[in-house]
Amino acid sequence: MNKIGVLTSGGDAPGMNAAIRSVVRVALHHGLNVVGIRRGYAGLIDGDFYQMNRSSVSDIIQRGGTILLSARCEEFKTPEGRQKALHNMQQEGIEALVVIGGDGSLTGAQKIDKELGIPVIGIPGTIDNDLAGTEITIGCDTAMNTVIDAINKIRDTATSHERTFVIETMGRRCGFLTVMTALAGGADAILIPEMNYDLDDICNKLIKRQEMGRLHNIVLVAEGVGEDFKTNRNLDESPAFFISRLISDKTGQETRVIILGHLQRGGSPTVRDRVLASRMGAKAVELLLAGESNIMIGIEGRELVYHKISEVLSTKKEIDMGLYELGTILS
Ligand code: F6P
Repeated sequence: MNKIGVLTSGGDAPGMNAAIRSVVRVALHHGLNVVGIRRGYAGLIDGDFYQMNRSSVSDIIQRGGTILLSARCEEFKTPEGRQKALHNMQQEGIEALVVIGGDGSLTGAQKIDKELGIPVIGIPGTIDNDLAGTEITIGCDTAMNTVIDAINKIRDTATSHERTFVIETMGRRCGFLTVMTALAGGADAILIPEMNYDLDDICNKLIKRQEMGRLHNIVLVAEGVGEDFKTNRNLDESPAFFISRLISDKTGQETRVIILGHLQRGGSPTVRDRVLASRMGAKAVELLLAGESNIMIGIEGRELVYHKISEVLSTKKEIDMGLYELGTILS
């Protein structure tokens, strides 16, 4: 193998740059050429490639986002789009790929191996931590710290004004980010897609606290809980607004809503994310050199592991419900 490509795809995540840096420098260390592909799969289709060297990845380990840019590409989901990508890769002499991204990116990666016959290794990069086959994904630790910083600040004003704040966190259909930050941030109620909850119970709890003199609350809501409220609310509305209105109506408390949104995707990666990304980037190159393909690297305990992408995509990520329970007991 002489030349590999690297791309980032889907929602960006802090630590993606550290992963790119590691892929490039470890590949160069092994005498490989590395091509950077801009805008994920869209760049494969457009042939938006550039030769990378050591200095292409200088001074990026501390930066959030991705220097390779990212996109969600509809055209790559079509066989025609993928054939264009194959043609471009053949023209450029790209013999294998490293794909850094979440489940949509891995779905694309699988097609690259199976349909286009190009070896590919996936690196899990998403703040959602919604991928099986790894305890944590690149970017999640930084996002959790961002959420905690936000909760700390919101708590200051919540206590001063004796208000209930409903804070909505990202994560698609996965409540990991919410559970962890609820536990670490001391949330008074936690709503995630994986758990049934009774809004009356939550309101009664807040009323009881009010009677005991506690006049501010932090309610953490995962963006994915919305499905449960389909019949009651406007589908385009964030669940936090619906829940906030309901709490206000039932408890009489003054409520405010904060949608943390894309704030959670930015910022300088934590040490944990940088180290994880550096290790996974290196492992991806080593696995390609060892002849592996169609696998995603993960971490279990201190060890890097890898699983077939098909297994990763067909397995639901389990959330540690013990942590959820602890979060509610401690609240
Ligand atoms: O997958 C990462 C993520 O940030 C999710 O948490 C969120 O639902 C989604 O991406 C937002 O996507 P976009 O940036 O395309 O609006």
